[in-house]
Amino acid sequence: MRTMTKHTALVLAAMLALACSPKDEIDRKVEDLLSKMTLHEKIGQMNQLSGGEWLVESAAKGEVGSILNCVDPAEINAVQRAAVEDSRLGIPILVSRDVIHGFRTIFPLPLGQAATFDPALVEKGAAASAREAVSSGIKWTFSPMLDIARDPRWGRVAEGSGEDPYLDALMGEAMVKGYRSEGLASCVKHFVGYGAAEGGRDYNTTGLTERMLRNVYFPAFKRAIDAGAETLMTSFNENDGIPSTGNRWLLTDILRNEWGFDGMVVTDWNSSGEMVAHGFASDLKHATEISVNAGVDMDMMSYGYISFLEELVKDGKVKESRIDDAVRNILRLKFRLGLFENPYVDENAVIAYDGETLAAARQAAVESAILLKNDGVLPLAKGMKILVTGPLADAPYEQMGTWAFDGEAEHTVTPLAALKESFNVIYEPGLAYSRDNSMAGIVKARQAASRADAIVVFVGEEAILSGEAHSLSSLDLQGAQSGLISAMKSTGKPVVVVVMAGRPLTIERDLANCGAMLYCFHPGTMGGPAIADLLSGVEVPSGKTPITFLRTAGQAPMYYNHTNSGRPNTGTETLLEDIPIAAGQTSLGCTSYYLDSGYGPLFPFGYGLSYTTFEYSNISLDSTRYGKDGIIKVEFDLSNTGKYDATETAQLYVRDLVGSVTRPVKELKRFGRFTLKAGETVHAGFELPVSELAFWNSEMEYTVEEGAFQLWVAGNSADGTPVEFTVE
Ligand code: NOJ
Repeated sequence: MRTMTKHTALVLAAMLALACSPKDEIDRKVEDLLSKMTLHEKIGQMNQLSGGEWLVESAAKGEVGSILNCVDPAEINAVQRAAVEDSRLGIPILVSRDVIHGFRTIFPLPLGQAATFDPALVEKGAAASAREAVSSGIKWTFSPMLDIARDPRWGRVAEGSGEDPYLDALMGEAMVKGYRSEGLASCVKHFVGYGAAEGGRDYNTTGLTERMLRNVYFPAFKRAIDAGAETLMTSFNENDGIPSTGNRWLLTDILRNEWGFDGMVVTDWNSSGEMVAHGFASDLKHATEISVNAGVDMDMMSYGYISFLEELVKDGKVKESRIDDAVRNILRLKFRLGLFENPYVDENAVIAYDGETLAAARQAAVESAILLKNDGVLPLAKGMKILVTGPLADAPYEQMGTWAFDGEAEHTVTPLAALKESFNVIYEPGLAYSRDNSMAGIVKARQAASRADAIVVFVGEEAILSGEAHSLSSLDLQGAQSGLISAMKSTGKPVVVVVMAGRPLTIERDLANCGAMLYCFHPGTMGGPAIADLLSGVEVPSGKTPITFLRTAGQAPMYYNHTNSGRPNTGTETLLEDIPIAAGQTSLGCTSYYLDSGYGPLFPFGYGLSYTTFEYSNISLDSTRYGKDGIIKVEFDLSNTGKYDATETAQLYVRDLVGSVTRPVKELKRFGRFTLKAGETVHAGFELPVSELAFWNSEMEYTVEEGAFQLWVAGNSADGTPVEFTVE
């Protein structure tokens, strides 16, 4: 027998260490448990149920793997006790909840958080939300929503990061990391294309090509999965005729085989059952067969799995090996989360509204506010006599926005309450709620205005007007809100408008009736103090639009990173009012635009003002020619040319001028927040690996194509002068 050399011994030791890695240990535990489970118990793990008294009974029978919508720690422990102590195998329940932008402490809507362009802050907020949720017994959230949304008629535009794949990916990654750091599993959703619903009507059909999916809709999912997202939710929509919940190509070929995802896939609420309404399955049993075979592991609330899956296996329609894989994915997550060691929550250690979390929520609300107009009225001098009016001035519930199930209005600080700390406030609501059409309050507000030196009008949307199933075909301010603003303008006093909404509304006419406008996507629990500090100049606005603001809803979908078309606008198009009467039957301008609203949006992506001004200069590259493995080094000077210390988000965009498929006119590739003292200039830079210019080309290969590019560094997607370079 040969003796072992030192080298062989080391290799063996390393192999042994690897063999005992936590991953393998978990896999061994999973296999061990799986081998003891009956088919019925396996299917029980694949069943997710919403809160109710029957949960305890189902848990004791081993017929439920996860619950949602149960947030009382005592109730959670009761269900858990039934699963752990009364069921045959004692497998703990995975407790889930939609913690979308906070649990108790509500942060700004995800769309508002995206407006911060500050992933580190978003990560901190997600960690704080996770701390609160986990302390109540929740282990899994259905967030982040990564749906690219380019149509603000879609109510769920509020829940994501807007229209840009890169910003979306960075925000998603930040949330996943934040949740993970405090032991909350995330769920990237909705896979895929859900935000592209026809006409912005929720749940509707999409027709995205594979290339669009790969170039625009997949990247955020891939990045969040690489950052450790534990689960993924299928979307309600069908794309090109195939509902996502039954799409094997998506859930198996792409997700498992191409991306190597080893997490768990859950349906959206009854999205398996809804394949019957889609006309894709003949009944719930058929829908169950399709979704399980496509690659779904857990069924949220269709009851199809628990009702039919055993029979489907016996009939040979679903292989037991597929069930085993699904259960592996579920058990692996339960082991990873440490549920077997610690199934219960300490009912006396619930955390909510602690100082650190409130401070993070306040900071997020500050950074998410976007200054769209300022003729010099802002900031308001402290101590000034102001009229505070509008239906959102003192609406603690509404300012939390959509998906704030567990936020409590009594903990929310409204702008009215906060402004009273620094101003001499006269309050007259004007309108009772955002859809209010009555005039009486407006008359009173107008009268009160005579006693004030300036007016701050809080308008927007009630929480219920955005979010799931809340699509709108008109994006103007609801009710008599625009009338309230114009009535205030008619007093001749300086008017500041603060909008709190779940989407970019069409506010062009309201802009004309005010001296300044601050736009906040529902800012959450600490919205009041944040807005008061912004209005008084304690803080300086720094938010940037994460989505294009339209002039009219009819422009939707409109987004900055569109392709050029063969007839792009020239800026000289004839508009409606310029068309002569009895004009000849010729085409007007022959470019892609609307006769009534022109070509451009109201505000482009990435736009936002400050109390100061910024200037970009000396933008230069370290070369004009790069190889495919090169790194583009961009340098520039950023100057604060105004009177306030402030923060600017510098944005780097590129354009690939000619491709084997047409490329967007601009794509965001980098951004950074820079804080500068008044009068200060900083020399700054970005590095961009050429590999990040890759896209899915005509051969459906992910590659960088050689040729000419343009690059901008600017304060928004419409500004700046390009510098040129080539990739060789
Ligand atoms: C339906 C929504 O589409 C999804 O986003 C959410 O997580 C589930 N319901 C659970 O509430």
